[in-house]
Amino acid sequence: MTASPSLLATLPGHSYTSPEVFAREQENIFESLWFCAVRSAELDAPGAFRTVPVGRESVLITRNGEGEPRAFLNVCRHRGARLCTEESGAVRRTLRCPYHAWSYDLDGALVAAPNLARMPDVDRAAYGLRAVALREWLGYVWVCLADDPPSFEDQAPGAAVERLGDAAAIERYGASELALGRRVRYDVRANWKLIVENFMECYHCAAIHPELVSVLPEFARGFAAQYYVGHGAAFADGARGFTVDGGEGFGRLPGLADDQDRRYYAITVRPQVFVNLVPDHVIVHRMFPAAPDRTVVECDWLYAPEVIASGADVSRSVELFHRVNVQDFAACERTQPGMASRAYRSGGVLVPSEHHIGGFHSWVTALLDGA
Ligand code: FES
Ligand code: FE
Repeated sequence: MTASPSLLATLPGHSYTSPEVFAREQENIFESLWFCAVRSAELDAPGAFRTVPVGRESVLITRNGEGEPRAFLNVCRHRGARLCTEESGAVRRTLRCPYHAWSYDLDGALVAAPNLARMPDVDRAAYGLRAVALREWLGYVWVCLADDPPSFEDQAPGAAVERLGDAAAIERYGASELALGRRVRYDVRANWKLIVENFMECYHCAAIHPELVSVLPEFARGFAAQYYVGHGAAFADGARGFTVDGGEGFGRLPGLADDQDRRYYAITVRPQVFVNLVPDHVIVHRMFPAAPDRTVVECDWLYAPEVIASGADVSRSVELFHRVNVQDFAACERTQPGMASRAYRSGGVLVPSEHHIGGFHSWVTALLDGA
C-alpha cells in the first residue's frame, strides 16, 4: 500500500532496523559530519578527559597543558589497545596505555615507552595519537572524524541561523557561559531517526504532552510552528515561566532581546543535536546512536551561573522537559517494533504538518547514496 499522491511517505521500515543501513549511517553521517561530543566545562583542567562514542569509534577528549581542548582516537598506536577505558577521569601529564605502558602527552605525542631508547626504528613523531578535528560552540566540544571536515559554520551555527533567521539570536543566550543544572541520560530503545522525526514534529503534542501544551498552547494545534523561520512559540498568558506547573522560573538571561522573552525556540542541528531555548535556560540534547534500535540521549539543562551558585532548586524547571523527553521516548519505543512489521515495509505517511520531515529523509538518503 502506498500513500496517496498528496501525502509523503516516510522512509521504509528497514531504514530503522537494518544493521547495514545503520553501518552506512555511522560511516557517512556520524563519522563524516561534526558531532557534538562533550560539554567543554566538564574538561575542567589539563588532563581531565572524557571518552565518547562517535560512530563506531571511541574519541578521547582532553585539555593539554595550556588548557586547550584536544581530541584523539582512543586507540594506542602500539598494538591498538583502547587507551582510556573509563568514560571520564583525569591524568596528570600523560595518557598511559595500560597494555605495554606507551605514554602520550596531552598533545598526543608519544613521549615514553619501555625500552624506547633501544628501539631506534620507532619514530616517536610518527606514532603519536591520531588527532581528531575539534571546534567549540555553545559551550560544547564538537569533533569530526573526516579527513577533510565539512564546514562547521554551515552545519552547526548555520542550522541556528536557518531556524532563527538571525546569526546573533542564539548567541544572546550565552550558552557557553551557562552552568549545568541537571543532566539526564536516557537509554532509548529506538532508532535515532525516529527520535529526530519526533523532535521535528508537533502533531503528537496534544496527544502526549499535556504539561507542554499548557505552557505553549499553540503546540496543541499540531503544527510545527517552531519550524517557521524566526518564530518562537509564545508562552500561555497564565504561564509565569517554562516550568512543569507554569510557575515562576528564573530571571531572563541578560543578553536576550525583548522579542525572545516568553518564547520557546527549538533547533535541530543535524544529525544528533536538539537545542531548546527559553528565556531563563537552554536545553541541549545530544544523541549517541548505539545500534539500529538503540540510542543513548544525554540531555543537559543549562542555567545562568548565579542561579546554580545560589543553590536554587531547578527541579520544577527541569521537570517540564524531562516529562516531554520521557513521553517522546516512550512514543519512539512504541514505534520501533512496528518498523520491522510487514505493515510498514513501504513506510508510513507524513501528514501535511509533518512535511518538513521529508526534508530530513531526503538529507539522510542523499548522504547514504553518496557512499
Ligand atoms: Fe598500548 Fe601496547 S597496545 S602500549
Ligand atoms: Fe514531543
